[in-house]
Amino acid sequence: MGKNVLVLNGSPRKHGNTAALVEAFSKGAEQTGSTVVRFDVALMDIAPCRGCLGGGADVNSPCVQKDDMDAIYAAYRAADVVVLASPMYCWSFTAQEKAVLDRLFALMEASMCAAAAGGAEAAAAAAESGGKECVLIMPAEENTERNFAPIISYYVTLCERMGWRDRGRVLVGGVYEAGAIAGNPALDEAFQLGASLA
Ligand SMILES: Cc1cc2nc3c(=O)[nH]c(=O)nc-3n(C[C@H](O)[C@H](O)[C@H](O)COP(=O)(O)O)c2cc1C
Repeated sequence: MGKNVLVLNGSPRKHGNTAALVEAFSKGAEQTGSTVVRFDVALMDIAPCRGCLGGGADVNSPCVQKDDMDAIYAAYRAADVVVLASPMYCWSFTAQEKAVLDRLFALMEASMCAAAAGGAEAAAAAAESGGKECVLIMPAEENTERNFAPIISYYVTLCERMGWRDRGRVLVGGVYEAGAIAGNPALDEAFQLGASLA
């Protein structure tokens, strides 16, 4: 059965290596009946979290900051699969991708507000986080195990704490310039991973 797939692409390069991997992955997903909703978050108006702890009142717009995150909250709640696609920046996600992850905290606040008002069922409905699956897609310059160790550790923790089930990772070293991914077998790996979701 096809899945609702949410792709969060954190690369600021429109035609970069992350975009190429995302396109291959999406093709695989769509060819096997999944629906892909993609956000190029580095090209959107998404501010970093302010840490005000004041969100959660409205589950459809749970953050106090009103920007393009509102579209992502809705897509996140509807998604079966969350795809974290980002180039490696300083052994982690780009700041733009990380801002989206931080801002998802407002959905947890909405869940807490709902729990206070209407019990655990309402809280679960507000967060709609549990039961989701997750994928990591990341190109990087350095092609060593050591280079990827910090992001793998972070991703594993994120999946565990967010209640996401890891469906697979495409980690590609040795690509630096935009377009360097052309002809790389990782593109087929991404396609196959997308196709395996349904
Ligand atoms: C600010 C910045 C930080 C980077 N940090 C790393 C890094 O820590 N490790 C690495 O292997 N590559 C690093 N890179 C290289 C990118 O991950 C690589 O160029 C990637 O293919 C870019 O993907 P894109 O074309 O989708 O933007 C960095 C690049 C930039 C611009």
